Amino acid sequence: MTISVVPAAGLGRRLNPTTPVPKALQPLCGKPLISWVMATLERVPVIDGIVVVVPPGNGAAFEALRQREGWQKPCQFVDGGADRQQSVWQGLRALPPETEWVIVHDAARPLVTPALVLAVWEAAREIGSAAIAALPCTDTVKRSLDGALIAETLDRQQLWLAQTPQAFAADILLTAHEQAIQEGYTATDDAMLVERLGVPVRLVLGDPTNLKVTYPTDLCVAEALLKLCRREVAAN
Ligand code: CTP
Ligand code: MG
Repeated sequence: MTISVVPAAGLGRRLNPTTPVPKALQPLCGKPLISWVMATLERVPVIDGIVVVVPPGNGAAFEALRQREGWQKPCQFVDGGADRQQSVWQGLRALPPETEWVIVHDAARPLVTPALVLAVWEAAREIGSAAIAALPCTDTVKRSLDGALIAETLDRQQLWLAQTPQAFAADILLTAHEQAIQEGYTATDDAMLVERLGVPVRLVLGDPTNLKVTYPTDLCVAEALLKLCRREVAAN
């Protein structure tokens, strides 16, 4: 059984510094970000169910969306935690015991495609542990210790920019999170926690249009991409 965990409990402070609208409910081309993600996950046949991690106190708003849009797959809402890692952990705690594979995908990446989700899942199963979508780094990357002077230039041939979806064997991801909690370790994605176990994580070529909505300009770019590249999707 494969379950998708969707961290959607962020408050989007960089998107909406003044109005407190949970970012996953922020509209994009007339539909909330979470709705775009759910529509895509619904189209991935290997996904048996979805756990959406929501900002505490917002369950009713997400449930209303589920009913209005008629999401078909079994779907559970759980309250999130103080940061992304804690939210994913809350989602993992809600997994059915027979879950073998977990696909984590952020609500903040509404333009993900079914093909990319499937490719990451297949790669994780092929290697027997984990795989993530990532893009080769095209910019030259500088490291600075003080934000003023360059300390070094990194070899960009070796650098990849991590995205979600990320797929994991469920037991490995649970162990990785448990160990991180025990050691008080915080990471910005789930692969980082699994890498620490010394377990192989495969890179799958991501999609440049699978952008992460962080700032208001990202919403403008996402709208333009939807209209330009995904005309058939945007029309729905
Ligand atoms: N997230 C979460 N729980 C949190 C914080 C973040 O589930 N406590 C989720 C977000 O909903 C998002 C993903 O993790 O899908 C990536 O987080 P980010 O882009 O930082 O979103 P926000 O935390 O909402 O934005 P900001 O940091 O600007 O407040
Ligand atoms: Mg955040």
